[in-house]
Parts: sequence; C-alpha cells; structure tokens
Amino acid sequence: MEDIPKDLREAKREAERLRAEIRYHNYRYYVLDDPEISDAEYDRLMRRLQAIEEAYPSLVTPDSPTQRVGAEPMEAFAQVRHRVPMLSLENAVDHEELKAFDERVRRFLGVTDPIEYTVEPKIDGLAVELVYEHGKLVVASTRGDGYVGEDVTQNVKTILSVPLTLDSYKEARAIPELLEVRGEVYMDIAAFEELNRQRIRQGLPPFANPRNAAAGSVRQLDPRVTAKRPLNIFCYGVGEVRGASFETHMEMMICLQEWGLRVNRPHMRVCPDIDQVIDYCEALEDKRSEFPYEIDGAVVKVNRLDFQARLGEKARSPRWAIAYKFKPSQETTRILKIEVQVGRTGALTPVAHLEPVEVGGVVVKRATLHNEDEIKRKDIREGDTVIVQRAGDVIPEVVKVITSKRTGKEKPFSMPSNCPVCGASVEKRPGEVVVRCPNPKCPAKLREALKHFVSKGAMNIEGLGEKIIDQLVERGMVKDPSDFYSLRKEQLLSLDKIAEKSAQNLLDAIERSKRTTLSKFIYALGIRHVGEHVAEILSRHFQSIDALAQASKEELESIPEIGPEIADSIISFFQDPQNTALVDRLLEAGIRPEPPPGPAQEASLLPLKGKSFVLTGTLKGMTRSQAKERIKALGGSVASSVSSKTDYLVVGESPGSKLQKAKELGVEILDEDSFLKMLGGEGHGK
Ligand code: IVH
Repeated sequence: MEDIPKDLREAKREAERLRAEIRYHNYRYYVLDDPEISDAEYDRLMRRLQAIEEAYPSLVTPDSPTQRVGAEPMEAFAQVRHRVPMLSLENAVDHEELKAFDERVRRFLGVTDPIEYTVEPKIDGLAVELVYEHGKLVVASTRGDGYVGEDVTQNVKTILSVPLTLDSYKEARAIPELLEVRGEVYMDIAAFEELNRQRIRQGLPPFANPRNAAAGSVRQLDPRVTAKRPLNIFCYGVGEVRGASFETHMEMMICLQEWGLRVNRPHMRVCPDIDQVIDYCEALEDKRSEFPYEIDGAVVKVNRLDFQARLGEKARSPRWAIAYKFKPSQETTRILKIEVQVGRTGALTPVAHLEPVEVGGVVVKRATLHNEDEIKRKDIREGDTVIVQRAGDVIPEVVKVITSKRTGKEKPFSMPSNCPVCGASVEKRPGEVVVRCPNPKCPAKLREALKHFVSKGAMNIEGLGEKIIDQLVERGMVKDPSDFYSLRKEQLLSLDKIAEKSAQNLLDAIERSKRTTLSKFIYALGIRHVGEHVAEILSRHFQSIDALAQASKEELESIPEIGPEIADSIISFFQDPQNTALVDRLLEAGIRPEPPPGPAQEASLLPLKGKSFVLTGTLKGMTRSQAKERIKALGGSVASSVSSKTDYLVVGESPGSKLQKAKELGVEILDEDSFLKMLGGEGHGK
C-alpha cells in the first residue's frame, strides 16, 4: 500500500475523496446493479480508507463506510415517533376487487377518465423508515404500531445497500433538508437458505421464512450480529419531505434512486388504466417464483401525487393504494408419514409425506423436516394437521402443527438408530445436530453421489435419471461414478424400459460428458462444502485437479471466500486414497477437464481491461446498451459522465455536452469507426 499521508489535512482530503468514491461505487453496485469496478478494486479502496482512519482516528466520521461492522450491543431499543404515521394497505384478492378500488378512486376524485397507476412488487420483509437530515442518515426505525416504532439505527446502518449519506448522482435535484424514506428490509431466498443451513449446523433453530429472518436480524440488540446477516432494502415511498417536491410517484422513485437509495425500478410499471394494472399484477404473480426474494403481492398506487393528497387516508390505510395479494404460499394439510432419507454425505433427513395440497399453484406432496431437533421443537407427529409453506423455489417446509386438530392417534417421531438403507448404526459427530450413516458403502450414499455426479451443474449426463441409477446400483453395474464410463450397450438394454435408441442416446451423453470444465469436474466430485461457486473459485486458482489435490491448508485459506471449514473438507477429501483413486480412474476413463483461462490468456481475451469509456450521441451500428455490453465483455468499464479518469469518449451523432468536457480534460475521443476497430473489427450488434 502507498504511504499514508504525513499531514492531517492531506489525510483528511484523501479520506473524503475515498468516501465519495466508495459511495459512488456502492450506488453503482447496490442501486443500479451495474458495478464499474471489480470487487478487488473496491476492496483496495476500502482498505486504503481503513488504513488512513487507523493512522488518524480523529478523521473517522459516523457515516464512513468503514463504520458498518456494527456498534456495541444495546440493552433495549429506544422508541421513535413517526412524523407521518406508517399505515398499512388494504387488500384486493381478485380482479373484481381491483376494479372496485379503481371505481372508488374515480368516484372520490370525481373523474371519469382512466386513472394512471403504478404497480410494483410487494416485498415480504420488514417495513422501516430512514430519516435523512441534510443527506445524512440520522435515524432508522421499525413500523411498530404505525405511530411509534423502535430505533434500529445501529442495525440498519450495517445494511450495505442503505446509504449513510445521500448524493446527487446524475442531474438529480439537490438533496432535501429532510427526507423520510420508507422501505422494506428483506433477505434473498438463497441467502436465507444458506443462513438456515449454517444455523442447523450450529444447532440453532432455523428461521421459518426469509421475512422472519429479516425481521429477527433487524430487531437484534447486537448490531454486530445484524452486520453478519445478508440484508437488503427496497425503498417504496416517503414520509415527510422538506425541500423537494414531485408530481408523480414514479418521478419520486426515480429521484430517490438518483440520490442513492435502492428502489425496485426494473419491476415497477406505470399503467394507464386499471385493465393494464390487472394484466401486470397477473404477470408478476406468474413470475413470482423467478424472483430471488419473496414477494407476496403487488402494490397498486395512484401515480399522481396531487390525486394521492386529495384521496387522503382512512383509519389505517391510504385511499390511493391497494395491495393485490397473490394466492397464499401456505396451506393446511396432513402428514401421512415421516420417512428418513439418506443423503450423499450420509446425513439422515426426516421428510414428511403429505396429503397432496396445492400451495401457490404447485402441488406439494413432501416437505423437509430438517432434523430431529427441529421435529422436537415443533412437536411434529405422524398424522398431524400442519401448515406447509413454499417460498420461491425453496423445498416446502412444515411451519407449524395445528394442535387443536389432534385426535390422540398421532405418532411421535424418533430418529432411527440404524441407517434405514444399509442398517449400519448411525453416528452423531460432536457439535453437530445431524445424524449420519457412517458406512462408506451405504447404497443410499452411492445413489445420491451418482445423482449428484450426473446432475446438470456437474457432469451433465442427460437421460441418466433416478430410476436408471437405482437399477444400475441394485444390479451392481455401477459401484462408483467411474463405472458409468465403462457401461456397455448390452448392460443398458438389460434394464427395465430401455430400448435400443435410448441406450445409444445414453452412451452418447456419457461420452459427451468427458469434455467438461475443471470447475464442473471439481463440483461433480461432491466434496463437502464445495458447491458450484466454490468449485469455480478453486478452478480459477489451481487450474488443474492435481494442483488442487496437493494444495496445503494455508494456500487454500489464502483464497478469498475459502474459509477453514471448506479448506479442511478439501484436504480430507484428497487425503482419502479411495477418493484419489476415483479421480485417477475418472481421468483414465477419458474425462478431460478444461481449465479456465489463466491470467495471460485473460489479457488477450480482455484487451480493454482497466479502460474507462463514456458514450455520447447516437451510434449508427448498435444501441447504447449493445455498445456497453461489448465494452464490458472485453474487460472495459462504462461511466455515465466524463472525468479525469475517463480513458475514451465514444462519440456518435449529435453528441451532448460530454464532448466539450472531454476536450477540456484532454480525454481521447473515438468516432464510431475507430471505436469499432478497437472492439476488434467489423461486427455490428452482437
Ligand atoms: S406502499 C401506506 N409499497 O406492505 C402504506 N408497501 O401492508 C404504503 N410493502 O407496511 C405502503 N412492499 O411494509 C408499499 N412496494 C411496496 C411494498 C410495501 C412491501 C409492505 C410495507 C407495508 C405493507 C402494507
């Protein structure tokens, strides 16, 4: 690292510059979802700021991005009175109720023309209010009873997408004197599942759903715990505002975004009438499971703010908005029986077989019960009437038992002491909640390992489904994954329901799978804690399976994102001679894992790495977003305004004021032809 400035004034200037730069990159990353720099570059900025603040502690400001690690634990939350009450929304459960809402709105306003509405996803999280005075976050509170909430400022400050200071990006307006922003704090479904896996490993009760996880994390007396939780926010409205005014809800949301607040712009629509509102509500409901976070409805709002003001509110909800609720993703059903499944790592997982029930449009027949502790905690018994829920693509879960429906015939469950598949006595490792079958030859483990090996993210052998694998294992034709590669057609033809053509297709698919990437191959091995993402990181770092097999714990732990748990698991995998023998057999069978491009190749693949571009005017051969895509694909970055850091300004027809600025700063100017040459020639478009 460069030297720390010797003089306080210089250090102060640099710290301020770094903070502004980090804020800008947070805005690009969290708000626009369009980062301009790599994570590594971002980390360098943060480390530099930390070093300066360490050398000059008097320079630390409360809004410094280094201050997000979480303050000391509190005794209790203070109370915060909301200047403008935080109301709730009335619900509409079908199209008729949306139409009735539209009619009420028009009657109240006395208009016959269609009313313009906005529609946006209703995020299933926890409502918070952020108060900014002169652009500084001063208080964050929960909704509470709508009038008085809890002061959760220290917790909310740890959420990286919440700006501690507002800026005026783009030509947005000046930051207002007072801005009360309302939004929903939530947790992505994948992050929630990871958090629950971690909790189960640690013997802690898992959260019932992402909303509870988010709410529990915000309402935490120890902000350092909150800081570790992957929380996020979408802002959706305002309370009191002094020093800015808007004409429509949409205009206001865009302005919030340009001040650095995260809003859900990609999924917001302005609809000219109620019919289009209904269409878009339906579209959102159809796409519900594709969202990485949970949405439980769509919020419809009158777009014009003067209309909103005239409509005003009723006791607990505004007249200008309504929530269109999606079909529930919780239903009531009965547990027919509880079965124990054995996974790839030997973990025994109890699974509830349910009376089939439709939950949020999908028929659910099974739900995971996690482990014995969970079953005890929720007191789940065979025969119980229960509430099941499905969240996004999450495996359905039993939320709770309806004990009032008990007849006395329900059967309590206890974990078997022997593996239900091979009969070996099960084991519980110290500190773990999970019970495992220790038998390395357990057919259930083998079956699961084989299923994993052929799965899409791994070797991707199409057509090798569960039923075929079961038969191959039962008949002893496949004892480990390398046996797939010596299967003969006669063997396949001897299985149930396999004809000549599908046997040949299978052999072709097995053959095709030999050409694969190193990361898929690593993932296919099924090393504990090595998922697709970690496999990708390992393949980049090691470039060959041999290098990975020989890695030391120190080397593994020096790789970003690889912690001691993963490192230990990799080491112990390759210490087991059975595993190394398996890897050898797979390579001998002809698998050729292709390493990812190394740094040298990358330089030739990414000729624009480190170069910053700005675009102005209209290009003839491609749209602006195509141009952006191509620059990024070659390693360059695209900024929205010209600065001394800009390397090139690409000028199309009728350029704007950026051209003048670039000339003043001596930035190199490219016309469309020279830009195309730089991109590597002829190609227009793609
Ligand atoms: S607007 C006057 N927009 O739903 C209330 N609310 O039952 C205006 N919510 O407490 C709320 N996503 O926590 C609005 N895009 C969205 C929302 C949203 C989630 C929550 C919010 C509110 C509850 C209303």
